[in-house]
Amino acid sequence: MKRISIIFVFAMLLCTVFSQNKQLPLYKNATKPIEKRVNDLVLRMTLEEKVMQLNQYTLGRNDNKNNIEDVLKQKPAELGSVIYFNNDPKLRNEVQRQSIEKSRLGIPMIFGYDVIHGYRTVYPIPLAQACSWNPELAQKASAVAAQEARMSGVDWTFSPMIDVARDGRWGRVAEGYGEDSYTNAVFCVAAVKGYQGDNMADNKKIAACLKHYVGYGASEGGRDYVFTEVSPQTLWDTYMLPYQEGVKAGAATLMSSFNDISGIPGSANHYTMTEVLKKRWKHDGFVVSDWGSIVQLIAQGVAVDRKDAALKAFKAGVTMDMMNGCYDKYLVELVKKGEISKKELDDAVKRVLRVKFRLGLFENPYTPQTTEKERFLLPVSLKIAEQLAEESMVLLKNENNTLPLKAHSKIAVVGPLAKSKWHLLGSWAAHGNTDDVISIYDGLEAELGKDSQLLYAEGCGFDGNDTSKFAEALKTAATSDVVVVCLGEKKDWSGENASRSTLALPEIQEKLVVELKKAGKPIILLLSNGRPLELNRLEPLVDAMVEIWQPGIMTGKAVAGILSGRVNPSGKLAITFPYSTGQVPIYYNQRKSARPHQGKYQDIQNTPLYEFGYGLSYTTFEYGDIKANSQKVKKGDKLVVEIPVTNTGDRDGMETVHWFIADPVCSISRPVKELKYFEKKSLAKGEIRMFSFEIDINRDFSFVDESGNRFVEPGDFYVIVKDKKIKIELTD
Ligand code: BGC
Repeated sequence: MKRISIIFVFAMLLCTVFSQNKQLPLYKNATKPIEKRVNDLVLRMTLEEKVMQLNQYTLGRNDNKNNIEDVLKQKPAELGSVIYFNNDPKLRNEVQRQSIEKSRLGIPMIFGYDVIHGYRTVYPIPLAQACSWNPELAQKASAVAAQEARMSGVDWTFSPMIDVARDGRWGRVAEGYGEDSYTNAVFCVAAVKGYQGDNMADNKKIAACLKHYVGYGASEGGRDYVFTEVSPQTLWDTYMLPYQEGVKAGAATLMSSFNDISGIPGSANHYTMTEVLKKRWKHDGFVVSDWGSIVQLIAQGVAVDRKDAALKAFKAGVTMDMMNGCYDKYLVELVKKGEISKKELDDAVKRVLRVKFRLGLFENPYTPQTTEKERFLLPVSLKIAEQLAEESMVLLKNENNTLPLKAHSKIAVVGPLAKSKWHLLGSWAAHGNTDDVISIYDGLEAELGKDSQLLYAEGCGFDGNDTSKFAEALKTAATSDVVVVCLGEKKDWSGENASRSTLALPEIQEKLVVELKKAGKPIILLLSNGRPLELNRLEPLVDAMVEIWQPGIMTGKAVAGILSGRVNPSGKLAITFPYSTGQVPIYYNQRKSARPHQGKYQDIQNTPLYEFGYGLSYTTFEYGDIKANSQKVKKGDKLVVEIPVTNTGDRDGMETVHWFIADPVCSISRPVKELKYFEKKSLAKGEIRMFSFEIDINRDFSFVDESGNRFVEPGDFYVIVKDKKIKIELTD
């Protein structure tokens, strides 16, 4: 009897589901494949409804939260997307309810936001993350950001930024992963995986957006928004790889760039967006314009007016208009006139819908209301932020083992950044809050305060020429056993629209160190900044120097760990620090000079102050010789190279081995060397560990031509680690 009633109930349930599904339009039936749902929905849409899906406005920025009726009026129920500036799901849900309940087809909106290095749990800027050489950890941090964002009403982040950048004067160098394409590609994949996971419909995951497609990092002279001169060869050699890998990793969206790529702006570039991205790489998500980058086609001289700009951007492959007000105004007319075909429009709309379906927005359009405590700053998130901050800091100098600090009775903590919190968050700090930040001073006090006395003096401001606080700073230094000077950049000195003509810190900061030197005490310089710096005048004045970057909320804890020796520094530079700004652009993988022994600057040293991959530890590592399982290979082969590394110092530490390849003779001249792989491992004191790299000849010994086709040419290659190298002969 019991069995019969269970079968009956089950059958009834099936009937109900079945009959409900029967009544449901196909696109609302979650059991159907996404592609079928997308096609079904597009068939039902009017021209106007389709066009509205391709527009993005803002929400929660200047909107009056107390006047929701007005807010709703400004966001049509059929609108495709908004940038969501609020950090509470409430406003989102009200606007989303309008889309679901008031629009004819109930298509959910997608809520985007710039979650660049954390949402509320702000962790180090991307440039710093790259210096950790720990993509697994960066992936975990991105997953924390995704969780906090999705729980706050954000479905989509405009990140990662993977613009290879070689000119530190460009403020946006802070937002990417440094000067090397491969490094950007690896951290890009990590970020995409962290944000999206295996299933974007998971309510702790968000869609990623690779930006800024493409070549923006080549901004001439480091000036923002200007043209870029990128030859087809350089486009493929330097800028495309991170995007290609990000697309392979499943990135849902891309953002078209502001820059004019040798005459054709990124946001009107048919080659990059349609021929390569959509046709060759088969990307089926969508491209959002950058903020205003469609209307800017007029200023860039390729469009006569807004309508023309809309047409050019759309035809080239920009799917969604971010804050241009061009698609909503002109696309209907352009389609009616036949300048844009129905097929082209449908393709664009399908791309947006596909991402919305993949995010599960049709099933779960609303964000559950949670408390801030439930979604922000969870202990496990703080731990990840702390570890990433520790691992991204780079020990640049440590004369006479000044660090870690010995048991000092008095430590002077000096400088404009010593007690600052705000500036440590870096640019694009999302909903980062100064109250969450542990300042350098507070971190040191918490860690060392029991055994040492901490003294503080501001010394000077970030810039200007007010030296009135020098005397007090010198007095404080003179009464201490060691001086920790905290210098660097303000939060908004890097990031978007934050170019600088020099990589040197303002003179006042350098003068402060000259002044402190008079105290005759060991000086430890901590640097917090969003770009490589010119340090040639400061370096000789100090005993130890740590590049801490803009480490986010756990700054003080991570700095204290490193200064006290609880943490052994393991960061290495992902960008070259020039000797002086005049050397810029300077990067490790330049192409070969016709006269390597000549052509130098006459007035300065020609090597950088700190090269790519540089970074010290409190222990020492010795490298053995590289061994290969074969030194003769053919196309399509795999090859294993290994190198033993010994921790020869007296403490445990972590070491990153960078594997470079050099191709001395090639039909298209290759850079002097190119990074192809890296690996970070822990080594206990005295331990020897083998680092290895499995070389795939077709992938690692190949190069691209100006159309992006890969070639392998026979000849001699070198595999290089530091000053060790091994020759590999490649035959046909
Ligand atoms: C920036 C983008 C950003 C967008 C939205 C633009 O000005 O270039 O990187 O995602 O604004 O905030």
